[in-house]
Amino acid sequence: RALTTSVFICSQCGHEESRWLGRCPDCGSWNTFEEVLKNRTKKGAAHGPRSRSTANPVQLKTVEAEDDITRLKTGSIELDRVLGGGFVPGSLILIGGEPGIGKSTLLLQVLFRLASMGLKVLYVSGEESPGQIRMRAQRLQSDVPEGLWLLAETDILQVEKAIFELSPDFIVIDSIQTMISPDIQSAPGTVSQVREASRRLMEIAKGGGAPVAIVGHVTKEGVIAGPRVLEHMVDTVLLFEGQRTENFRLLRTVKNRFGATHEVGVFEMTESGLRDVPNPSEFFLSLRPSSVPGSVIVPVMQGTRPILVEIQALVSHSYLAVPRRTTIGIDSNRLALMLAILEKRLDMPFFDKDVFVNVVGGMKIQETATDLALCLSLVSSLRDQPLPNDLIVFGEVGLSGEIRPVSFWDLRINEAQRLGFSKAVIPFVDMLREDKTQENLVGVTGLRDAIEVAF
Ligand code: TYD
Ligand code: MG
Repeated sequence: RALTTSVFICSQCGHEESRWLGRCPDCGSWNTFEEVLKNRTKKGAAHGPRSRSTANPVQLKTVEAEDDITRLKTGSIELDRVLGGGFVPGSLILIGGEPGIGKSTLLLQVLFRLASMGLKVLYVSGEESPGQIRMRAQRLQSDVPEGLWLLAETDILQVEKAIFELSPDFIVIDSIQTMISPDIQSAPGTVSQVREASRRLMEIAKGGGAPVAIVGHVTKEGVIAGPRVLEHMVDTVLLFEGQRTENFRLLRTVKNRFGATHEVGVFEMTESGLRDVPNPSEFFLSLRPSSVPGSVIVPVMQGTRPILVEIQALVSHSYLAVPRRTTIGIDSNRLALMLAILEKRLDMPFFDKDVFVNVVGGMKIQETATDLALCLSLVSSLRDQPLPNDLIVFGEVGLSGEIRPVSFWDLRINEAQRLGFSKAVIPFVDMLREDKTQENLVGVTGLRDAIEVAF
């Protein structure tokens, strides 16, 4: 009787086959199958998933809801926001991001706070020695709390053993790509290793009830180290982003079983670690040049809160047969659509112009509510005429140039007023809904009117 058996796993999507295939039937990628030896007896017996419930059905009525009170608050308003209110007991959280962006720093700070609250927390590092971690810790905080434990280890079985003995309240694994399971014959970071380590960590989280936060390095393609399978296994996926040359960082909720997705937390990297940026609008607008053609401020909804961001457009004469259209932070199809509407409805010549659009601060905008702002920034740059400094605009632009209402119009206006923007060009329908009529709040029905009143 064979004790080991081999399976083939696609390193792109984690699809499993019993034989090698040239092309994955699931995700369609070529040459991605990797042979994985599995130890049969070991897997089933000792490490099978421990189920928390019995096989008896229960009446939903009699089940008590898991309350928010049981969440572990991190002490960082921004982190709690993206988590949906804090760490949920027994959950597995993946924090992805490029190397050097600040994942280890963020989690070490969380551990500091939790340990200061009297919890026992464990930091497992497969990347740094205890001495190196201590060095980083000294930058963050001089007095190290007693409850913070370290383990420099890459063998997942040893990690499992240590967690079992210490029984911490919160665990960080830094990073999943360094963890290895000795009974699997492939290199660290391969899909089979990552999968096996994650499976064990999931059991630890579900079994012991301590949340487990896993660091995952993101590859150039933006995928969390090839194995998408990891994203399916965890409860929450957070992505840490930002330009390494600049100090602000965005933490984005990509997936969350216990809260809203598209939530964004904003941080600033300082000499002594990451700091919350509770007022992102102020932060993003702080470096805004005044009276520059092509610059428009728009309130965008990021999860549940409005944030004011600056859209910049640069329209210049093109020497190419096919003019360039480049966007950063905004959908290029949306730009193409707005350009077509401006050309067709307002006879504005963009066909012989290169067009560049940038959302300042690394924000990514997916809302159609930014259409009007995008159009105005294009017109402003085309005419080389700046818009008023105290103006905000929002509204969806339809194919015939009509301005359509957007959601959360009141939150957007409030945020703009809070920051001293006194003039707003908004959809006419939204203005009607504003009960207290305000001067400087202009409702528009068409793109032509909008351009007229804005300048
Ligand atoms: P790190 O957390 O090691 O990144 P990751 O774990 O995602 O690879 O972040 C390292 C960077 O952060 C490094 O360039 C130094 C910088 N840093 C600060 O600016 N201030 C600090 O207090 C710390 C600890 C790091
Ligand atoms: Mg790190």
